[in-house]
Amino acid sequence: MPDEIYPIPTGFAERARVNAEDYRRRYRASIENPDAFWAEEAKFLQWIKPFSRISDTSFDARDLRIRWFEDGTLNASVNCVDRHLPGKADCAAILWEGDAPGESRVVTWGELADKVNRLANVLKSLGVAKGDVVTIYLPVIPEVMVAMMACVRIGAVHSVVFSGFSAEALASRIADAQAKVLVTANEGHRGGRAHPLKHNADEALRDQPSVRHVVVIKRSSADAPFTPGRDLWYDEAVASAAPWCEPVEIGAEDPLFILYTSGSTGKPKGLVHTTGGYLTHAGTSWRNIFDWREGDVFWSTADVGWVTAHTYKIYGPLLNGATSVMFEGVPTWPDSSRWWSLIEKHKVSIFYTAPTALRSLMREGDGPVRKHDLSSLRVLGSVGEPINPDAWRWFHRTIGGGRCPIVDTYWQTETGAVLLTPLPGAVPNKPGMAGRPYFGVRPEVVDARGAALEGPASGNLCFRGSWPGQARTILNDRERFIQTYFAPYPGRFFTGDGAARDEDGYYRISGRVDDVVNVSGHRLGTVELESAIASHPAVTEAAVVGYPHRVKGQGVFAYVTLKEGVAETEPLRREIMGWVRARIGPIASPDIIQWSPALPKNRAGKILRRILAKVAANDFEDFGDVSTLAEPAVVEDIVKRRQQALAIKETA
Ligand code: PRX
Repeated sequence: MPDEIYPIPTGFAERARVNAEDYRRRYRASIENPDAFWAEEAKFLQWIKPFSRISDTSFDARDLRIRWFEDGTLNASVNCVDRHLPGKADCAAILWEGDAPGESRVVTWGELADKVNRLANVLKSLGVAKGDVVTIYLPVIPEVMVAMMACVRIGAVHSVVFSGFSAEALASRIADAQAKVLVTANEGHRGGRAHPLKHNADEALRDQPSVRHVVVIKRSSADAPFTPGRDLWYDEAVASAAPWCEPVEIGAEDPLFILYTSGSTGKPKGLVHTTGGYLTHAGTSWRNIFDWREGDVFWSTADVGWVTAHTYKIYGPLLNGATSVMFEGVPTWPDSSRWWSLIEKHKVSIFYTAPTALRSLMREGDGPVRKHDLSSLRVLGSVGEPINPDAWRWFHRTIGGGRCPIVDTYWQTETGAVLLTPLPGAVPNKPGMAGRPYFGVRPEVVDARGAALEGPASGNLCFRGSWPGQARTILNDRERFIQTYFAPYPGRFFTGDGAARDEDGYYRISGRVDDVVNVSGHRLGTVELESAIASHPAVTEAAVVGYPHRVKGQGVFAYVTLKEGVAETEPLRREIMGWVRARIGPIASPDIIQWSPALPKNRAGKILRRILAKVAANDFEDFGDVSTLAEPAVVEDIVKRRQQALAIKETA
């Protein structure tokens, strides 16, 4: 069957920042001489002291080095905020919409600068200095940007923790980073419900002596617990702080932020991003990928707790002085036309979202979309997980009116910025494919032995050669960083994803090949989930796998072995789901729990997840080599229980 190809819309390439010819020429130049290419890109930033050294990099696991623009100095908040003053002081930086319809704010560049300076002074007065970590646990409100910028103004390192994470998850991230200050809110609002953030924060801080102060934003008039001496109200503190804070001179390789993500072992990894390389990559890739120009209104629906928001909702737009929409709520509340009403209201021209949301909105039909005028849209983007062709076509036709290119952007917390994407004016779209490499990026598809495959091929996705935006290490665990990403395939960065490349050099991501599941675009480590379940007093052991889920992409399927004598009941099943929610957060709650008196293991005691994944996907045949199974009857029992559950569902 010939490929389904959507050409670049008529007239688009002529005005685009990057057309097909630019892409060919600049891509080649960026690969032939990466240093020259990136040195030119880095001129996008305002440096205090220009760099003289461009890169010093090696992906050799015995001598890992990732350093860019090392002797240059700069300040991130000057680049993100001060630079746009005074010209844009009265222009909108953020068009904020609260969870409840009608609650909105416009934050100008001038106001943003004022708040950033004042909060930076507050942090300083609380003893925060260069290199200290500040944890930010906030809903999607403009103060997230204020807090991040205030940190980087004084050289402090921000660690934003998703506000949907539980107190326990927050506590472990605070402990790992030894944060000095926590910035949070009394509560957050989503889907018409209030979430008690300050209450969670207090619970998290019970055993975290590193945090000396908590800055609390009044998101609403609701009461919140308050500890005098430790806590301070944001409004009062910034009102009495001085309106100017001298920006601190920061080295290009000094840390900018830490962001936690899940990996294939239990403990979340705190990936460390540094200043000069990350900002260069974020700022320049953002405007190329979304073909941004002055006058555009950009909207990324990502939550501020994820890397998507760091690079392409916060740093990318701020570095470019762009106007962006920020929305606190969910797409389906009060009804499923909420997003579309906001696109119409703010005349959004660039819209960046996740396949899982599109799949759930698509199920509501075209009705909620048709009520709104979406003709302002010019470029659409997708991120976080593979987008299935059906959702792609709906996005293209129903949302984009058939006239907007879709940038399916592939990247990770670790990569810091996009590595694969069809640039909108340069690379025609193929539904479900993440396009071609971004400038300076050298993808490789490798086989199990690590040999790079040429031409059309499928295998594991690696990258050769450094790019400025990549993470430099895992906080407190450099060895894990090396072992996870650089040891599996010598000389390359291994993504943990499988991919196929076609004859035109387009990449299709098939998903994770390690012990990570991607649920609604959220990365969850199976080991992390298993330890949460196994910590329940009724549970002996658990094994978690992902399974295909119509809306979420992958769902969480947990096989749970109960302690001797514990009855397999429905209330217990619900209790375990709640247990995981409380320990990690609602996104991690298992979709299916199957009681399994025993788990299939080999003679060395290793759980054979391959078999569990097949059963979870309702694939009961051909389990491959089962000769290593210690007890073959265990598999029969697991299959029988799954089939019984399906039969009950069908008759229900
Ligand atoms: O499996 C890939 C998937 O999301 C993982 C990275 O997750 P995270 O670090 O949370 O960052 C998400 C947003 C950048 C990848 O290893 N992924 C991300 N983008 C895509 C994708 N899978 C397919 N297509 C994409 N466009």
